[in-house]
Amino acid sequence: MKCARLTISDRASAGVYEDLSGPAIQAEIDRLFEGPLEWRAAVIPDEQERIAAELARCADREECWLVLTTGGTGPAPRDVTPEATRQILDRELPGIAEAMRAVSFAKTPTAILSRAVAGTRGRSLVINLPGNPRAIGECLPPLASAIAEAIFHLRNVRVRLKRR
Ligand code: MTE
Repeated sequence: MKCARLTISDRASAGVYEDLSGPAIQAEIDRLFEGPLEWRAAVIPDEQERIAAELARCADREECWLVLTTGGTGPAPRDVTPEATRQILDRELPGIAEAMRAVSFAKTPTAILSRAVAGTRGRSLVINLPGNPRAIGECLPPLASAIAEAIFHLRNVRVRLKRR
């Protein structure tokens, strides 16, 4: 399965701090799914048109089965990841983001501040995740079986979850 991880952060893209959440996504997906997995990675600033262009490229040109973003989903003025994602989605899968907020809210009350969206573009599944590296480990495991099922519906390929 070909995957993309996009870290969306002005500061990480400027090198002010290290990108921890992008590698955290990759580690978590590698832990959850049987391989082989192929990754492409990018770190981009909180700019709607750049985010939308990168998402569209991952889906259309790179043909990534799964495109995961981290960051830019909150209520701050520079947070535009959900707007950029909606711009490129063909269809939303609202249950994915609803479940992510619901599960995280039980542990972290501020989780409901994430405006993350998820959906499909062509045969690619696109999911926004929050920017906090710890949030990645909370959000992804409960989504794993829905991600596998969505990929089956989109690609007619069964990706396997690792037994844990
Ligand atoms: N979800 C989990 N599981 N854990 C967290 O620490 N942080 C929240 C929320 N979701 C958080 C979380 C906070 S404080 C914000 S502002 C939003 O995600 C948006 O974060 P982002 O702008 O980095 O995407």
